[in-house]
Amino acid sequence: MKTGAGNCAACHTPPQFTDFAFHNTGAAQDDFDALNGAGAFMRLDVPSLAARNADFDTWLPPTEKHPHAEGPFLALPGLGPPPPTDLGLWNAYGNPDRPEPQRVLERLLNPEEGGAKKFSRDDVLARTIGRFKTTTLRDLGQSGPYLHTGRFRTLAEVLRFYDRVTDLAREGKLRNAPEEFAGVKLSADDLLALEAFLRALNEDYE
Ligand code: HEC
Repeated sequence: MKTGAGNCAACHTPPQFTDFAFHNTGAAQDDFDALNGAGAFMRLDVPSLAARNADFDTWLPPTEKHPHAEGPFLALPGLGPPPPTDLGLWNAYGNPDRPEPQRVLERLLNPEEGGAKKFSRDDVLARTIGRFKTTTLRDLGQSGPYLHTGRFRTLAEVLRFYDRVTDLAREGKLRNAPEEFAGVKLSADDLLALEAFLRALNEDYE
C-alpha cells in the first residue's frame, strides 16, 4: 500500500487486502467504552481459560450441548453484569464444544519456537480478546456498515476510528493491542490519502 503511515497493509495484505488471519483492531473496546466510559474495557473482568470452561453457561455462547449458555462476550455492548460485548475469537479458542478449529487456532496463535510452545494456553486466550478475521478492503462500497459492530457508515468514520485506537495503543491504553499498531501515527493528510485509496479499490469493480 502506497501510504505507509497506517501500516494498513500489514494486515490488509495485497492483492486480497486481507492476511486471512485474526487481529484485534480495538473495535470491541471502542464500542464498549462509548457506552461504559473510557477505560471500562481495560478493566472488564474476563475469566481465565479454566474458569471460563468450568462455567460454560455463564461465559460461552450457546451450542447444542449447552442450549442455555448466555454468551455475554458474543453480544452487542450493553449493560451487565457481566457487561455484554463481543470478544470475537475469545469465544472459539479452547471452547470444548468447538473442537474442529482448535488445531488451526493453536498453530496460528501459539507457534512452536525451538520445539516449545511460545505461550501458555491462558496467555493465548488473553491474546484472542477482540480478535476478528481481517476483512478485505476490496469493494467497500458494497460492504458497509463497517467492522463487525456495523457501527460506522462511512469510510471517513472508520479512518477516524483507526486514528483513535492507534492513539490509545501508543498510550498503552488499548487492551490486547496488535503489534502492527506500534508506531502508527495518522496525520490529517494520511487520513485523506487513505480514504482516496480505499475509494480507488472500490472503483476496480465499477
Ligand atoms: C492489526 C491488523 C490491522 C491493521 C494494521 C489494519 N486493519 Fe483494518 N481491519 C482489520 C480487521 C481484523 C478488521 C475486521 C475488524 C472487525 O470486523 O471488527 C478490519 C476492518 C477494516 C475495515 C472494514 C471493512 C468492512 O468491510 O467492514 C476497513 C475499511 C479497514 N479495516 C481499513 C483499514 C485501514 C485504512 C488501515 C490502516 C489505517 C487498517 N485497516 C489497518 C485488521 C487491521
